[in-house]
Amino acid sequence: MNEYILAIESSCDDTSAAVLRGTTVLSNIIANQEVHRQYGGVVPELASRAHQQNIIPVVDAALKHANITKKELSAIAFTRGPGLLGSLLVGSSFSKAFALSMNIPLIEVNHTNGHIMALFAQEEGEISKVPEFPFLCLAVSGGHTQIIKVKDYFDLEIIGKTIDDAAGEAFDKIAKIMGLPYPGGPVIDKLAQEGNPKAFSFSRAHLPGYNYSFSGLKTSFLYFLRDKLKEDADFIEKNKSDLCASIQREIIDTLMDKLVKASKETGIRQVAIAGGVSANSALKKAMYDAEKKYKWDIFIPKFKFCTDNAAMIGIAGYFKYKNGDYATQDLTPYARTTTQK
Ligand code: KG4
Ligand code: ZN
Repeated sequence: MNEYILAIESSCDDTSAAVLRGTTVLSNIIANQEVHRQYGGVVPELASRAHQQNIIPVVDAALKHANITKKELSAIAFTRGPGLLGSLLVGSSFSKAFALSMNIPLIEVNHTNGHIMALFAQEEGEISKVPEFPFLCLAVSGGHTQIIKVKDYFDLEIIGKTIDDAAGEAFDKIAKIMGLPYPGGPVIDKLAQEGNPKAFSFSRAHLPGYNYSFSGLKTSFLYFLRDKLKEDADFIEKNKSDLCASIQREIIDTLMDKLVKASKETGIRQVAIAGGVSANSALKKAMYDAEKKYKWDIFIPKFKFCTDNAAMIGIAGYFKYKNGDYATQDLTPYARTTTQK
């Protein structure tokens, strides 16, 4: 019998619903919230209001696109956390009510775990290669930067993490300093393609082990610009592409250095990336280079499964469904992860 899962993701500023048959993604609808652009970042209060407006039409579209009726669904999975509490509440309340009214199991998913599960996504008519356990995954988004030893779908050992800003946050904050729109990551990525990555250098943190720090790099960038702008008020405009390419190189080199070290020291050569920053073209290139240089077997989610989406939540949901790992109606969302679920 086919098992269809409806999945809901509402942890930040994207309202998403997906329908999956097993790990095959039948639909993955994402409503982006344009309202935050003018503020240069996500405004939590506006995000939860927009989720409330979007959730029903997005779920409707996901069911229609998958050509599935509500009655055919086996379970509903949703992001419980981490994320913005007001945003998570919309997705979790909707999912609880849906599970209750349709009398189907409710399944809670950890958002970061979801990003990693994107590596297992399949699409109709094609077979994508998936990693075997154990593998290393650099989970890198606006809220997370972690090196994880993935021993099983839900057995994750975080061996390194950022002690301050996440890499995506660094991209976004640096873009803001340059007067570029939010989210900054994709904008910097695009501008960097015409720039010289060696034009400028900034001081990077070198932490022991597999931990990261990005706040010093951001400060170094800020002070560098402050000095240059004193000499030439048009410095940013004249050097936009070079600045983007150079700061992107620093961020990607930092990410890769620790990932290479982790692979060498653990002896694990199946290496994956996941999360919004895994959409970055320089990071992907660095992974392809490392694949050749270190004889890695690399795994990169398809672009549409890199940034926040419900399909990745549905894959985690499907594996939990198979394990009979259901949630209860009394659970509440969490803003931060204390234990990796
Ligand atoms: O996973 P995601 O959609 O949301 C979180 O869970 O945080 O990641 C969003 C982050 C943002 O910081 C955004 O700037 C970054 O991913 N991002 C990128 C790119 N696309 C998205 N960063 C660098 N290059 C990109 N192409
Ligand atoms: Zn995310």
